Amino acid sequence: KRQFRARLAEAEEQSRMGGGEARISKQHAKGKLTARERLNVLLDPCSFRELDALKTHRCTDFGMDKDHSYGEGVVTGRGTINGRPVYVFSQDFTVWGGSLGQAHAEKICKVMDQAMHNGAPVIGLNDSGGARIQEGVDSLAGYAEVFQRNVDASGLIPQLSLIMGPCAGGAVYSPALTDFIMMVRNSSYMFVTGPDVVKTVTQETVTQEALGGADTHCSVSGVAHVARDNDLAALKAARELFDFLPLSNREAVPVRSTCDTRERAIPALRRIIPQDPNIPYDMVEIVSKVLDDNNFYQIMPDYAKNIVVGFGRMEGRTVGVVANNPSSLAGCLDINSSTKGARFVRFCDSFNIPLLTFVDVPGFLPGTDQEYGGIIRHGAKLLYAYAEATVPKITVITRKAYGGAYDVMSSKHLRGDVNYSWPGGEIAVMGAKGAVEIIFRGKDVAAREAEYADLFCNPLNAAKRGFLDAVIDPASTRARLCEDLEALRNKQPLSFPKKHGNGPL
Ligand code: COA
Repeated sequence: KRQFRARLAEAEEQSRMGGGEARISKQHAKGKLTARERLNVLLDPCSFRELDALKTHRCTDFGMDKDHSYGEGVVTGRGTINGRPVYVFSQDFTVWGGSLGQAHAEKICKVMDQAMHNGAPVIGLNDSGGARIQEGVDSLAGYAEVFQRNVDASGLIPQLSLIMGPCAGGAVYSPALTDFIMMVRNSSYMFVTGPDVVKTVTQETVTQEALGGADTHCSVSGVAHVARDNDLAALKAARELFDFLPLSNREAVPVRSTCDTRERAIPALRRIIPQDPNIPYDMVEIVSKVLDDNNFYQIMPDYAKNIVVGFGRMEGRTVGVVANNPSSLAGCLDINSSTKGARFVRFCDSFNIPLLTFVDVPGFLPGTDQEYGGIIRHGAKLLYAYAEATVPKITVITRKAYGGAYDVMSSKHLRGDVNYSWPGGEIAVMGAKGAVEIIFRGKDVAAREAEYADLFCNPLNAAKRGFLDAVIDPASTRARLCEDLEALRNKQPLSFPKKHGNGPL
């Protein structure tokens, strides 16, 4: 027995040490933490309970029968973040490059199954050379088992992916199926095919970082949501994001204590909109001022900046915010902003997070780029997402709400629960100049423009029809929204049985 205990201790130590000192030093030399160090930062101190530390593979090909490292290149288990439960897996690049074989996949699947059954989020830390080459089709089967669980878990529990090293080939599709992807600048990359294959097939020369680094995916492709400069900052950002999320779709949003009061008036909001309707302003300033403690956690801040989305709290409870931002492309809706907004709205709706929408939208971006790219199809995604969402939906029009874009942005007609405008709101088919040019074909334009503006470029017509519930003093926005959120807390969605809708993709 004593002999066995010694063997066990040795196995446990081997599992803890992963690929050994030399490979750990190599990992550190790249500025990366190890799989276990990362979990230490991500989770509350001493909260990690490991599973399957002694798991080994069953592969016998290519000399693998002589190498049975314990742990299988991935550290899995559960722990807590600020006291709330979370399931985790952390790929260990020091063991066969963190490559995924059958047993490695089984470990990930086990934590995902437990997370789904027990109603807690999964956070995956990805750092892997991809499919374990020695295991052939077993590795591919392993990936597909994980993909299936990503889909099963979608809408049931929040899923977060941190990309902290290589993530290439088929491996990219597990993170792609999760709710949020965070990346580390200059040490992580995601691509379907790497620079060498790109060079062979398309003759393009491109670096790993330019092809699939954090900045590329957070500002160009829209694949990833948040970028940070190093492992530590990314893991801290993940903790912060986690704090906003409910544990599952069976739970209400988390509540955090705050000293910020409901009654806090914000007189600065009365002066924030420029006199000239063509002058931009930063919508992020408005959103931040309204939320608890001015704390707005933006998702995809560097992608499609004409719409801002993210999380905040009102009286301690999480809300999701979607807002047109006139400081980029005049706040127009285009393909990228529509898909960015749609995915966020769907996330919030899945997880009982009320939606606050701030509107200043002059319409859809015109042009062949947009039409050929399918703005009709992509714009429909945002419309579909809002129409489908049954969480509390509160809308504030700060300035323009023109045309079809007015309808899309959580209008009363898409079952907005509460719809407000500030006094300077302009709810119209289009701006006065464009409207008059079409109706009067250049005759008497100045006088007609003034007439049109007087009639339509204000919130009165919409209020008369009940499309707006009230025109509010901007300073009272926070107080009004807090009251409404409380009134809507027990909102019960009406639903009609069907398998699922067929939203545009
Ligand atoms: N299967 C099995 N072992 C793998 C592996 C994989 N897919 N990817 C990496 N490894 C192993 C390497 O053999 C090496 O082992 P060693 O420490 O015993 O020498 C270790 O992981 C580290 O890999 P290395 O190539 O030294 O690291 P790197 O940082 O220079 O390069 C990669 C990282 C991911 C670019 C490189 O390892 C690679 O191209 N891997 C193969 C990727 C691939 O084609 N995957 C299959 C299709 S998805």
